[in-house]
Amino acid sequence: MPKNKVYIFDTTLRDGEQVPGCKLNTKEKIEIALALEELGVDIIEAGFPISSPGDFNSVSEIGKVIKNAVVCGLSRAVQKDIEVAGEALRTAKRPRIHTGIGTSDFHIKSKFNSTREDILQRAIQCVKWARNYTDNVEFYAEDAGRTENEYLARVVEAVIAAGATTVNIPDTTGYCLPHQYGEKIAYLINNVPNIDKAVISCHCHNDLGLATANSIAGAMNGARQIECTINGLGERAGNTSLEEVVMVIQQHQTLGFYTDIKTQQLNPMSRLVSETMRMPVQPNKAIVGANAFSHSSGIHQDGFLKDAQTYEIINPEQVGADGSKIVLTARSGRSALAHRFHKLGFMFNRNDVDVLYEQFLSVADRKKEVEDEDLKVLANQYQAATV
Ligand code: KIV
Ligand code: ZN
Repeated sequence: MPKNKVYIFDTTLRDGEQVPGCKLNTKEKIEIALALEELGVDIIEAGFPISSPGDFNSVSEIGKVIKNAVVCGLSRAVQKDIEVAGEALRTAKRPRIHTGIGTSDFHIKSKFNSTREDILQRAIQCVKWARNYTDNVEFYAEDAGRTENEYLARVVEAVIAAGATTVNIPDTTGYCLPHQYGEKIAYLINNVPNIDKAVISCHCHNDLGLATANSIAGAMNGARQIECTINGLGERAGNTSLEEVVMVIQQHQTLGFYTDIKTQQLNPMSRLVSETMRMPVQPNKAIVGANAFSHSSGIHQDGFLKDAQTYEIINPEQVGADGSKIVLTARSGRSALAHRFHKLGFMFNRNDVDVLYEQFLSVADRKKEVEDEDLKVLANQYQAATV
């Protein structure tokens, strides 16, 4: 059965860059954009041109150097924003304007002091303005996660009729459960008559740690674009992490999806973003964390040494990680210790390892991690005592 492509829309340079302390200059943004294109992302959201002259310049410069990916600029549903985005994107070979407005009652009443009817008209209007600059227009219904489905369907139908070619359904506050978000996408697919004229996009935030699960639920129910960031960076608790959705899709072939991401570049890409944005990656982060392929407990180490697949579902090389690591701690067992001695060139039998293991434990109780140098000292002392 042919697989369905899920388009990867990277917003590291826009939603990711909104993280306090992650601000990038144009040179840094260009470096990341080029690496994203090399990674295989389909759409690069390069910035929010009206937000500052620096961001305008970055979007414009990125447009000049990106050859294949679509380059996208964000705007509000405001004519001036859209004009400025259109201007910044004039350099791009494949420009996209991403425009939209809040559609939940929280946004309509509290933020805009408006009505559903007025917001619907503003949504239609902003898409029409954007179409004056490009025929590649994405509309976002901000806080769609908390927007009533019937009204959301009216908005989606109207913006597609006005010329939107992608419709983004953001779970802006990260509130939805995966089945709710999936049902929302299914509702739109089944109730918007012109839905076949646009790609539905998932843009999920991670406030409850559900961004990846929600994006996958969206794709399973008909969405074909996922908006995500490297290392899951983004407002508050972040956005869907690119490396996670890509590897979920690759590991679960039965979903029937594929992406064009070159997965061997995921770890180098993660390091580039982390270093450039000065934002360390948590060690237990899936796919790209320092411990993603480390084994430290005796039970796990024993199983891993017999067959790596016992405790690893991804080969580290597949995602460009340095390789699996056996970390020796007070929780490690004899087989990991024997394996490490062997690697260091010491051929000990079972009895030797039993004795050495007790000595190893007393070092391990003092130190968080036992290093090769510690083991060499133990081994040499043991050999000297037993000749
Ligand atoms: O989270 C959100 O709703 C957004 C939109 C601007 C797309 O980032
Ligand atoms: Zn967002």
